[in-house]
Amino acid sequence: MAEAAFHFPPNFLWGTATAAHQVEGNNTGNDWWQWELEPGRIQRGDRSGLACDWWGGRWREDFDRAAEAGQNAHRLSVEWSRIEPRPGIWDEAALAHYREMLRGLHQRGLRPMVTLHHFTNPLWLVEQGGWESESVIGRFEHFTRKVVEALHDLVDMWCTINEPNGYAYSAYTAGAFPPGRRDIRATFRVMHNMLLAHGASYHAIHDIQPAAEVGIAQHIRGMQPATPSPLDGAASRWQSRVFNESFVLPLRDGRLRFPLGRGRERALAGTLDFLGLNYYTRDRVRFDLRLPGQPFGRHFFAPGAEVSPAGFIANEPEGLFAALRWAHRLGLPIYITENGVEDAADQLRPRYLLQHLHQLWHAVNFAWPVRGYYHWTLVDNFEWERGWTQRFGLWALDPETQARTPRPSAHLYAEICKENGLSSALTARYAPELMARLFPG
Ligand code: FCB
Repeated sequence: MAEAAFHFPPNFLWGTATAAHQVEGNNTGNDWWQWELEPGRIQRGDRSGLACDWWGGRWREDFDRAAEAGQNAHRLSVEWSRIEPRPGIWDEAALAHYREMLRGLHQRGLRPMVTLHHFTNPLWLVEQGGWESESVIGRFEHFTRKVVEALHDLVDMWCTINEPNGYAYSAYTAGAFPPGRRDIRATFRVMHNMLLAHGASYHAIHDIQPAAEVGIAQHIRGMQPATPSPLDGAASRWQSRVFNESFVLPLRDGRLRFPLGRGRERALAGTLDFLGLNYYTRDRVRFDLRLPGQPFGRHFFAPGAEVSPAGFIANEPEGLFAALRWAHRLGLPIYITENGVEDAADQLRPRYLLQHLHQLWHAVNFAWPVRGYYHWTLVDNFEWERGWTQRFGLWALDPETQARTPRPSAHLYAEICKENGLSSALTARYAPELMARLFPG
């Protein structure tokens, strides 16, 4: 087997990603806190509770961990319900708290990327119709201005909305996120409003901070036809266009696509300075007319695929490469804003990580403009409707005692970050079964 190392470009960003509600704790003013109180909404009745206690100050020790582990970037989100607890009423102390955290990142050599909306909404916004009501567009712009005015000296990379497609689907089609709806038309209305809210937010950020880099974190669910049948091909292509592409393309050319709308929205054209991709897995799609929640196609993992403990993610690294092949044609800098796997025992994660980064390295060598990678996630955190049943952390967390314990992947990722690449020596140590595949010869 060959001894070799695959290096990434200088200044490549290596980090982890987090979201406010999943790590801060005691986010009592948003729709998720209420949702968690309703019986049956969260697996086992789990609650976010103190989460990773970042609001209580444990961000310090976790940022220390990230920095000591060789990371140079971190993606986090700010919580709208903390900053604007009532419409038009701002909590300056909350903003000061975020300033302290952002300063903490800089002091440790971690470059921040800040997400403005990551799944949670203030309760007052929900009372006004949430993302179904057009009034959210102006509200989100207003919120953006306040946050960017307060934080722009500490942040130069902004992500307006995390996974607009994932949010709209989970909250309005699958009913798994608040408000728990199952209404396809509402789903597309929400995505339409999210498009316009992104546009307004993009322009607001650039008014205040012309040099900022602004993007979204788009969830890309890989899709492949289950068989060579033309019907499976058509179902897979159609779903991929709707789910993966229909939100992103209008932000390049201003042209709305079915099913999010029609015609032109000039203000949307050119409103991405980068594209963030959240990639976890890939499905096979089989034509099927019987599923109202997944029009024309049934999804499943490839037979024989290596699947995570809760059956949530199949290890499909080539799907990341396929997503990058699609994304690079947009001609924008690309960040992998999330990628990871739930795996408390850390059996699959080392392999998953090495294989996905190997695909990323291929993309970089095609001169596709990939600028950074944020692993999901640093420390186990509250996984939405799956509660604490899924563990995505490089560090394990005991939410009762708040004790953190590194998994082997924490050490593996640290070596990758410090080396700015992957080597055969590292692979031999952490996932020897991959040697023949990654370093043949
Ligand atoms: C993504 C979410 C993130 C986390 C991971 C596992 O869809 O953006 O908050 O829950 O999945």
